Amino acid sequence: MKLAILSRSPQSYSTQRLKLAALDRGHNCKVLNTLRFAIDLSGNSPDLQFQGKQLSDYDAILPRIGSSITYYGTAVVRQFEQMDVYTPNTANGISNSRDKLRATQILSRHDIGIPSTTFVRDRKDVTAAIERVGGAPVVIKLLEGTQGIGVILAPDNNVAEAIIETLHSTQQNVLIQQFISESKGKDIRALVVGDRVVGAMRRSAQGDEFRSNVHRGGTVEAIELDSVYERTAVRAAQIMGLRVAGVDMLEGHDGPLVMEVNSSPGLEGIEKATGLDIAGSIIDYIANQVDFPELDVRQRLTISTGYGVAELMVKDDSHLVGTTIANSGLREQDITVLTLHRDTEVIPNPRETRILNANDRLLCFGRLESMRSMIPKRKERRPSIKKLKESLLPDFHDN
Ligand SMILES: Nc1ncnc2c1ncn2[C@@H]1O[C@H](COP(=O)(O)OP(=O)(O)O)[C@@H](O)[C@H]1O
Ligand SMILES: [Mg+2]
Repeated sequence: MKLAILSRSPQSYSTQRLKLAALDRGHNCKVLNTLRFAIDLSGNSPDLQFQGKQLSDYDAILPRIGSSITYYGTAVVRQFEQMDVYTPNTANGISNSRDKLRATQILSRHDIGIPSTTFVRDRKDVTAAIERVGGAPVVIKLLEGTQGIGVILAPDNNVAEAIIETLHSTQQNVLIQQFISESKGKDIRALVVGDRVVGAMRRSAQGDEFRSNVHRGGTVEAIELDSVYERTAVRAAQIMGLRVAGVDMLEGHDGPLVMEVNSSPGLEGIEKATGLDIAGSIIDYIANQVDFPELDVRQRLTISTGYGVAELMVKDDSHLVGTTIANSGLREQDITVLTLHRDTEVIPNPRETRILNANDRLLCFGRLESMRSMIPKRKERRPSIKKLKESLLPDFHDN
């Protein structure tokens, strides 16, 4: 394959290792500076120029987008996606994981442990927010910090409030997080490639530092992950939309708590700790997937009027419980089952002979009208919008 690594640091350990691993396997590989691309939307189809010239054809890219150029970098990745070039990490995945709040919001609706987290803006809400995550000590984080910078442990409520107010006054948004004291200055970094963990290490902070980042003097040791941690890391990466990711987890009393998912994980620490060829496994994965560029399934399937995708729920009292997909009548109503979710299991392309259970969730493509009655009700319906009462209107008129 012909691979482009998008990176602004061709000399860094990670970039060098990835390039050498690709060349060593007989691939054609170039490191291209992300900021030297021009996005070209002037012709008939989306295109890219590099250093002023039309870009040659690539089969795949591996984005290594630093946090200082997220906007431009994800625009370039998105352009490659429009050109059907394979990327293990999509522009969406990179943006989702880059912002700690956005990442935590997305993870929180799935069955994945995360430290209790809250986000407020008004100073009047700060005290209640700290209480909501269990009271001091609490961790305060800038939304886009890296390498441990912008992560503060506040020992008591007064200090926490003062820090948050100071950061707010300089227009910085922060999230407030429960301090997981039992992880004692340690965390776990799992390197996920595709649907498996290819290497894992435990990082330990130095002295009384609570941040275990290697840039803060943390030390690393290779570890063998147990299956719960492994599954959590893989699912977190999948939920974020990343096929190459460094998933950071704290070891909580009740199991793994995902702190963040990195879309450009550094390879030096993990390769040195584990002695494994992580770069090689990333290149092999990309070479294996290159024929399947990401496409926005929902967008493509919604082009026919009246058709779309929806997740349908088999309710307890549904006539579908106990019937096979063939006898369910779904096909007759112009509905095709794409995947079946049962508890934590996912069955892709379920067979016609598969029997449906109560609480199965079916990802379907079909006629929207036929599917409407099977869409699960929202947990709580929002109240309908009431008519404005004359007596509640203020006594002046805007022009
Ligand atoms: N809620 C928390 N409880 C305990 N330790 C934490 C918590 N959040 C972060 N840490 C420690 O601080 C380090 C840096 O936090 P992290 O959110 O990963 O920020 P960064 O993006 O700067 O690495 C983590 O590796 C971990 O050791
Ligand atoms: Mg981190």
